[in-house]
Amino acid sequence: MRRYMVAGNWKMNMGPAAGRELAAAVQQKLAGRELGGDVLVCPPYATLPAVAEVAAGQPLLLGAQDCSDQVSGAYTGQISAGMLAEVGCRWVIVGHSERRQFQREGDEDFVAKITRAFDEGLKVIFCYGELLEERKLGRQADVVRDQLKGVLPRLTAADAGNLVLAYEPVWAIGTGETASPEQAQEMHAQSRQLVADIMGYPEAANMRILYGGSCKPSNAEELMGQTDVDGGLIGGASLKSDDFVGIVDGAEAALANT
Ligand code: 13P
Repeated sequence: MRRYMVAGNWKMNMGPAAGRELAAAVQQKLAGRELGGDVLVCPPYATLPAVAEVAAGQPLLLGAQDCSDQVSGAYTGQISAGMLAEVGCRWVIVGHSERRQFQREGDEDFVAKITRAFDEGLKVIFCYGELLEERKLGRQADVVRDQLKGVLPRLTAADAGNLVLAYEPVWAIGTGETASPEQAQEMHAQSRQLVADIMGYPEAANMRILYGGSCKPSNAEELMGQTDVDGGLIGGASLKSDDFVGIVDGAEAALANT
């Protein structure tokens, strides 16, 4: 039985003061609850120390949105995985579509970053998903296969336990348009099969695959109720404590129905 994960990707929102307030509100709303999954927030770098103060310990975990592919040295503007671990991060997102699009990152970058993160004891949420044009052409299965095949074969089966996948169709990110539960399930099932082919069977059965793209309290339960959807990577709705906790409630409700 896979534990669900609900992860908030705050993107470039929430400075230290606002971030601390938001994390404290989430923490307060979750306090004392026995959760059947992991709840994580990923603030911008500058906000991490402030959130670490209120997110220290259960239930809220701390993650970062990216890390350098280098250990240390003359890499102006970069942040190492070791520094993230030092400020209290347990997780880091790699491969987000906004990094693919705006920073032109690709498979080589992702493999290097994931490797660095694992070396520092961080766990990784690796994102992938097709563009609108690709879905319109019916190419989503090919795109997702290529994105996973570009990275997963270069990791070891032992790494699988430190990895979570996040299927994020780019046409659903920040658009208000959500993949239907059937569309999500189809892509997640295909992803899990690819993990089985590449990393092995128990690894695939245990791998958590999150859905991301306009997830909100009103659609969380149905999405997360799909067999191969193990939680969500949440953008916009993670910026309001009620919405974010509402999505955790959706994950709990989906769990209760299994
Ligand atoms: P939205 O939830 O705002 O669509 O963003 C999804 C996302 O990109 C999470 O990483």
